[in-house]
Amino acid sequence: MLSINLLILIFSIFCISINDGRIIHYYFDEDNEERVNECIINAIDHLTEETCLQFVRSQVPKDSILFLDSGHCSWQETNNTVHLGVNCINDAMCSQIIARALTNDRPYPLVSRILNLKYNCTDKCTILCENGGSITGDCTCECGYGFTGDRCERLKGEALFTDTSCGIRDDDDDGTIALSSFPGNAPKQTYCQWLIKADEPWENIEFEIVELDLDNENLLPSQKCGDSFVIFGSSSVQNPIPCNSEGSAILGQKYRSDSNWLFIELRANAYSLRQHKGPLIKYNVVNEDGPNNIRTFSSEQVSTSTSTFIASFWTLLMTAIFRIAH
Ligand SMILES: *[C@@H]1O[C@H](CO)[C@@H](O)[C@H](O)[C@H]1NC(C)=O
Ligand SMILES: *[C@@H]1O[C@H](CO)[C@@H](O)[C@H](O)[C@H]1NC(C)=O
Repeated sequence: MLSINLLILIFSIFCISINDGRIIHYYFDEDNEERVNECIINAIDHLTEETCLQFVRSQVPKDSILFLDSGHCSWQETNNTVHLGVNCINDAMCSQIIARALTNDRPYPLVSRILNLKYNCTDKCTILCENGGSITGDCTCECGYGFTGDRCERLKGEALFTDTSCGIRDDDDDGTIALSSFPGNAPKQTYCQWLIKADEPWENIEFEIVELDLDNENLLPSQKCGDSFVIFGSSSVQNPIPCNSEGSAILGQKYRSDSNWLFIELRANAYSLRQHKGPLIKYNVVNEDGPNNIRTFSSEQVSTSTSTFIASFWTLLMTAIFRIAH
């Protein structure tokens, strides 16, 4: 009896060491259009290169992710099926829908790094650059204007802020951005950066400039505002924000961030003729399925077969140890 258990134990350890949770079995339905399979194969090739996952094509659907050409793109967690269709596939969709199936997360652009993080692919690049930072060839983040830190997670101007309202807002789903002196006048020496950050990578920030009392006197011929006021993270906003008569056109408009962050910076003109209140911006976090989001076929929360697969080996291993111990 003991020797059988021992065999199970050795077998389990062997399986765990070769699997390491990183072998993904998949199966193509026989009736799939070739284009559908090609799209998935390309995505798998790319992910094999960028992650530590190994994808193995099964000859039987059992214990595998099923790629099924059913005319629409979605992930059906309950029976481990990725639905695909020629009209909804493209390179991004194919790798994102694989990530969706493997992580149970909503998809977002950095598929390979999300998988590296989730599957502990420590010899691969696992850094996720935040706030619009981009990854370089040596796996470090190159930050956009205003950001610093390993992951571009901090505000670069922090040491120079003149007001207590400046900084990162990541605790509320809605609120306002204004200097602490608002609606009173701000000191002439004012420098502030604000970062509105939504928790989830697929969320957006909707915002509206309610007031814009900035230095608009004594402007140079081509100058649109005496203060420097910029908003980054939303392609719908033109920078620098004008505060002359042009500025009134943007008041009261609803804008949306491109991603889950919005950066705002005010550098007041210390030589303005009079004091100003500064801006007042209202914002709220929105969490909606955009056209690019992969819908879930079913909302039930069950583990994927990959994790069930790993879990079953653990159970086996633990049972074996337990039996030997007794
Ligand atoms: C999962 O369910 C869908 C329909 O609900 C079906 O078309 C598909 O074949 C199923 N997948 C498996 C692996 O049985
Ligand atoms: C990755 O490593 C962390 C900490 O070392 C651990 O908690 C987690 O379970 C691991 N995940 C996988 C999928 O192996």
